[in-house]
Amino acid sequence: MGVPLLDLPAQYRELRSEIDAAIHDVMSSAGFIGGPRVKVLEESIAAYCGTEHAVGCASGTDALILVLEAMGIGAGDEIITTPFTFFATAESISRVGATPVFVDIERDSYNIDATLIEAAITERTKAILPVHIFGQCADMDAINGIAARHGLKVIEDACQAIGATYRGKQAGSLGDAAAFSFFPSKNLGAAGDGGILTTDDADLAARARKLANHGTARKYFHDDIGHNSRLDALQAAILSVKLPHLDRWNAERRAAAAVYDELLAGLPLALPVVRDHGEPVYHLYIVRTPEAPRVMEALKAAGIGTAVYYPRSMHLQDVYSDLGYGVGSLPQSEAAESETFAIPCFPGITREQQEEVAAVLREALT
Ligand SMILES: Cc1ncc(COP(=O)(O)O)c(C=O)c1O
Repeated sequence: MGVPLLDLPAQYRELRSEIDAAIHDVMSSAGFIGGPRVKVLEESIAAYCGTEHAVGCASGTDALILVLEAMGIGAGDEIITTPFTFFATAESISRVGATPVFVDIERDSYNIDATLIEAAITERTKAILPVHIFGQCADMDAINGIAARHGLKVIEDACQAIGATYRGKQAGSLGDAAAFSFFPSKNLGAAGDGGILTTDDADLAARARKLANHGTARKYFHDDIGHNSRLDALQAAILSVKLPHLDRWNAERRAAAAVYDELLAGLPLALPVVRDHGEPVYHLYIVRTPEAPRVMEALKAAGIGTAVYYPRSMHLQDVYSDLGYGVGSLPQSEAAESETFAIPCFPGITREQQEEVAAVLREALT
């Protein structure tokens, strides 16, 4: 029968009348930029994450850029981050003129290896930017401890982790500031691009808000070079319909992960490892085998959605060739590139669909 990697239309089908009404409401009012719908979403996300402030913007990438700029990070500064992420993490650092410094990952969680961070700190280091990859929080106690000892900021790339927890606290409330993406395939996805940043720091939030709006806090008076990076009211309205369902959807992802853990146990396939520091939200369910290309072919032939996240580590991207990392410099990230892939895991996936995926994997691996 086949199983998609993600079933986005199902989310719309479930909430169709509410989403349609929200869209109709925005269209009728013609209040497309800013206004009460964006404010409501910002307040709801801040409350959900347990932060004082949330500032909507055009994408998760922009949320990272705005946080970095609002912190005054720029040319000459170094930011420590992970090589095993979507390009936007590193790109945002480069976009503000700073230099990404890549630190290898933990073999089993795929998150930045906090035990390697201190050795990468120089007098130019300004911040640590961990990514909660695939929806599981990085080792934030260790990261915050290092940051405190060295006077560094901590910026969470929480783009894949809305709703994930770490020692009872929400992703997005674990550092000085955080970035979330509302890219449609994210756990909380818009009908297009969108993003938001969260922080407890009122000054940082105000600076980021100003930068997102052409460097102005007072119309037609500009004291900064900013961006046009605002969250559309249409997106905010749709996201406000979806947000109350997020915890249930994340619980469904966790339940689906538990089913795979059971169905795939005993196969020569490494399954996601969950740290005891919190609850992940399985933005992706990642499995690992040295036979990844052959197994993925079998899945594709059976009509089962699968993809590699990510086929090339950041330190080996052409654009970063001048940073001086060679093949073999960050071995865990490089090994993960060629051995890991995602299998279907989304809210509403049925046990039958998961059994179909597991049967193909079993056939390919035994
Ligand atoms: C880890 C990570 N960081 C940053 C981003 C950038 O988010 P956006 O696509 O909304 O710009 C994404 C998602 O695409 C992501 O997965």
